[in-house]
Amino acid sequence: MKITTPIVDFIQTYIGKHPLRLHMPGHKGASLLGFEAYDITEVAGADSLYEAEGIIRESESNASLLFGCPTYYSTEGSSQCIRAMLYLVALYAREQGIDRPLVLAGRNAHKTFLSAVGLLDLDVEWLYPEHEHGYLACPISPHGLVNELTRLETEGRLPTAVYLTSPDYLGNMVDVERLSAVCHGFGVLLVVDNAHGAYLHFLPDSRHPMDLGADLCCDSAHKTLPVLTGGAYLHIGAHLPMELKSQAKQALALFGSTSPSYLILQSLDAVNALLASQDYASSLTEMAKRVEACRIKLHEHGLHAPANDEPLKLTLYPHHHGYTGIEVAQYLRERNIECEFADPDHVVLMFTPAITDGDMERLTEVLLSLPRRAPLFLCPPPLVPPERVTTVREALLSPSEELPVTKCVGRVLAAATVGCPPAVPIVVSGERIDESALACFSYYGVEFCRVITE
Ligand SMILES: Cc1ncc(COP(=O)(O)O)c(C=O)c1O
Repeated sequence: MKITTPIVDFIQTYIGKHPLRLHMPGHKGASLLGFEAYDITEVAGADSLYEAEGIIRESESNASLLFGCPTYYSTEGSSQCIRAMLYLVALYAREQGIDRPLVLAGRNAHKTFLSAVGLLDLDVEWLYPEHEHGYLACPISPHGLVNELTRLETEGRLPTAVYLTSPDYLGNMVDVERLSAVCHGFGVLLVVDNAHGAYLHFLPDSRHPMDLGADLCCDSAHKTLPVLTGGAYLHIGAHLPMELKSQAKQALALFGSTSPSYLILQSLDAVNALLASQDYASSLTEMAKRVEACRIKLHEHGLHAPANDEPLKLTLYPHHHGYTGIEVAQYLRERNIECEFADPDHVVLMFTPAITDGDMERLTEVLLSLPRRAPLFLCPPPLVPPERVTTVREALLSPSEELPVTKCVGRVLAAATVGCPPAVPIVVSGERIDESALACFSYYGVEFCRVITE
């Protein structure tokens, strides 16, 4: 597939002309850091992200071709896309005469979901993990989803959308294909936070949510593709009503800066050419094999690293080896290896084809050199659904005060969430903080939180 790179080309030409830049940004292309020349604004010919009809539109059409569905750029991460997706859900509900839509969401939603719920004043019902699980994973079976949707339908509260996070931070994925069939059977939209899974489309058998029936989905391109931080995609299901598709840009604009970064746009543009090459798909497959080989070695050595649904993430569960995740992360750091995420129970390592064979060997060697210790018997507190007292929005807008968590039992959370790392809610705005939440705060080292003033 031959893919153009119109944004990159435009900026190269622009730089080559050495124009006197009497426009923003203030650095005028002069170099303090080394890349300012590439950082332009919406000058003539450079198009405009939210009214794209030139080079940005061409580049987004390339991305749409690659993903096989209408795809729009975000320069402010999946966070911007999540807000846009929920705005589109709200518009969709309005068309059906529903003023205050209900969203049925997996409890391991990223905190951005809650800020969007608060901004848009949506109603949320939570899907909790079906079996004993921590806060980060939320396995939902098609059968479980049928039960929840049937219950809500019987109560006359069928949601407008189901919202799921897949892959989650640990590398678990839900069965989007079967879950989307369930949603569509009830006439409900399926919205997926695929922040961690842009690359899934380019595996030999795509496991990207848009290829499995999702209606709306976001990818943080910057998390798993060679794209600058902030670059993300909003994907729209081809079968969604035309009016909704045509409002995607407006939805993104509602939550975005009026000064989108052209460094990020160039990066999104340039990656299209890379993704179009057959080499990229095969380098992903190769990388997945190398990650699997490393995982098996570690696992055989006794470092618990179960197979992940997501092939480019390696998640270590080191208690059995005698360590917390934080201790393993520190061991790696002392050897100049930085993990993506660590908490008391896990260490998460993320790979892309940019990681070399030599890097993999070094990582494996370092992890195999971790001396085994007596097992730790440590367990995160169980997830106990807190009592909901007010809506998210009401709580966000209420007078509030920040207190040590030990003084917060019985109080209602005002902040969007208090989350365990990485930004997954323990308690959500408008919920009452109880003793089990307190135990969880202490486990994850949360010391203060903002509660509604009494
Ligand atoms: C599951 C999930 N969703 C959404 C986000 C927000 O993505 P971004 O940082 O691209 O705005 C994150 C960020 O870590 C995430 O982990």
